Amino acid sequence: MSEDVHPLRLGVLISGRGSNFKSIAQSIREERLKGVEIAVVISNVAEAGGLAIARELGLPTAILVSRGRSRTQHDADMIACLREHHVDLVCLAGYMRLLSAEFIAAFSNRILNIHPSLLPAFPGLDAQQQAFDYGVKVAGCTVHFVDEHLDHGAIVLQRAIPVLEEDDAHSLAERILVEEHIAYSEAIARVASAMYEIRGRRYVRRNPD
Ligand code: GRF
Repeated sequence: MSEDVHPLRLGVLISGRGSNFKSIAQSIREERLKGVEIAVVISNVAEAGGLAIARELGLPTAILVSRGRSRTQHDADMIACLREHHVDLVCLAGYMRLLSAEFIAAFSNRILNIHPSLLPAFPGLDAQQQAFDYGVKVAGCTVHFVDEHLDHGAIVLQRAIPVLEEDDAHSLAERILVEEHIAYSEAIARVASAMYEIRGRRYVRRNPD
């Protein structure tokens, strides 16, 4: 993306510690990730650790507490907030809530998620523990577009690591997290370049380097 083009505005959704969000923010600051800016960080949990990181970085934040609200009500507020901040691409970064069909339609093919397994293996919660318990020898993470099914949309990229003999689920999760932090910025850069198309459920790069 050239300098004079309007940067792609990211809306980052979190529920917890926000390490993936932080790594995206750092990549932008250090200009390893160009042509994008963080428009807003939204948490559905008031105590999310990632909110403090966003404030320290001087980024706009919003807290839209989901507890006790219907998915439709909550998502209507999320959509309004994202639109208010002119968000082009929504990045789920440890956002622990399923999105409604209305949300997905409002940002069709413009929502990314990161999942700590090599999908389609081990969707859902505790993916690293699931992979460890299953005894896989290769684990990793996936950045994918979000569709109406859980951890399911077109895959932008994956990063794989070996499971070591001395690993436990915790050490495996830590090593996968290192890969997540690389993968998410790289996936955003690819999407921001707009040099791709989605064929069926396949994300296909045009002119990959
Ligand atoms: C990550 O493992 C991510 O893959 C999963 O939730 C976790 C969020 O961690 N979706 P963090 O809040 O980004 O540190």
